[in-house]
Amino acid sequence: MIKHIAILVSGNGSNMRAIINATKRGILKKIAKVILVISSNPTAYAIKYAECENISTICVRNSELKNENFLNCMILRELQNIKVDIICLAGYTRIISRNLIDTYHNRILNIHPSLLPKFGGKGMYGIRVHKAVIESRETKSGATVHFVDEGYDTGSIIMQQEVKVLKTDTPNDLANRVLNVEHEIYPKAIKKIIENLK
Ligand code: GRF
Repeated sequence: MIKHIAILVSGNGSNMRAIINATKRGILKKIAKVILVISSNPTAYAIKYAECENISTICVRNSELKNENFLNCMILRELQNIKVDIICLAGYTRIISRNLIDTYHNRILNIHPSLLPKFGGKGMYGIRVHKAVIESRETKSGATVHFVDEGYDTGSIIMQQEVKVLKTDTPNDLANRVLNVEHEIYPKAIKKIIENLK
């Protein structure tokens, strides 16, 4: 049975695109299908892309963004209206409530641009992560796919892949190399979870 994925985004959605591609012509073909994309950002390019791929989309309204509780209830309601097996956070910047985590226990995944538990936690997102890695003179960084729990980047790790940090790297250089690796491992991690769901 093909597993149904919902993706939550807030930004550019390059990981979302990697997952959609994998379901259409990559390692998730005939295994999984993206049936819904929810964006907390109405201008996110991700939404336009998903629409072009004929995937249902929901843009959260500004009024709904003001209250995390309300937002999470709305998302839960939408997810329960359709049958979703796995939820993938892909650059989603809002809080996931306890209710949502409990309802989809070990079925909500996130990707983080470092080798967790290093360089994770509150405030560690985007280019800040890569700046911190370079300032700490790390020789390697990478990407991590993990389950979502109530903490910041604390859920158990599903898959990691290392990336070398070069002496000449700017935070942007490192971010780009890590992002390429994210696009490789997110579909692989989803495949692993699906195999365990069987
Ligand atoms: C990625 O670096 C991911 O690790 C982090 O947010 C970023 C999202 O990028 N959680 P994109 O929107 O998928 O391009």
